[in-house]
Amino acid sequence: MSSSEQDGPRRAAAARAVQEVEDGMVVGLGSGSTVAFAVEALAVRVAKGLRVVGIPTSEATAGLARRLGVPLTSFAEHSRIDVAIDGADQVEWGPLNLVKGLGGALLREKIVASASDRMIFVVDETKLVDRLGGTTPLPVEIISFGWQTVLDRLAAIGCAPLLRLTGDKPFTTDGGNYIADCAIAEIPNPAALEARLASIIGVAESGLFIGLASKIVVGRPTGVEAIE
Ligand code: A5P
Repeated sequence: MSSSEQDGPRRAAAARAVQEVEDGMVVGLGSGSTVAFAVEALAVRVAKGLRVVGIPTSEATAGLARRLGVPLTSFAEHSRIDVAIDGADQVEWGPLNLVKGLGGALLREKIVASASDRMIFVVDETKLVDRLGGTTPLPVEIISFGWQTVLDRLAAIGCAPLLRLTGDKPFTTDGGNYIADCAIAEIPNPAALEARLASIIGVAESGLFIGLASKIVVGRPTGVEAIE
């Protein structure tokens, strides 16, 4: 399916998730094209009088929210989030483990997810997999200093890391870090891999999101399906 064919299901999933936002809530705003639809839907409700404040996971989402009139706040004002809405790159149907970070915002996304009472992920059905890994690389956010040695360590544990580039320069996250995109044939034990990655000095965070999903909303051409 091309991206434009996915837009309808993504928009529908995003709209369903935004229905769960209630007056007075602090809302985590993820990143990516599906979340952009959610920010649009939230802006429509804000224009009709819904009072919420958002904590964005990226400068891109912050810019979109500002343009559409969704008020923003930060962790300095609110250390907890009532509900957050984010996209994903892969969803392991069943245990609801996820891969995130193709958009390069995984560290802030994971901080927001871990600070949220409810975490709703919105995807189209092309993101559903039986097992994580394969054709979608696992993004790992790494500190820029000494990135070469971190890539060596990632390779040593069986990942095939590639430093993400923008042109001929390293891609830099909003927090000033780099991303290693790790090719892994399959990830049979995501929790074990997450723990191994976290033990590598210089790894800021991995794109494995385990046990963080309260709900997944899947947009399909035939309708929207939600699983708690
Ligand atoms: C951002 O870092 C990613 O985790 C995104 O959430 C992910 O890439 C989903 O983006 P789309 O909704 O554009 O597929």
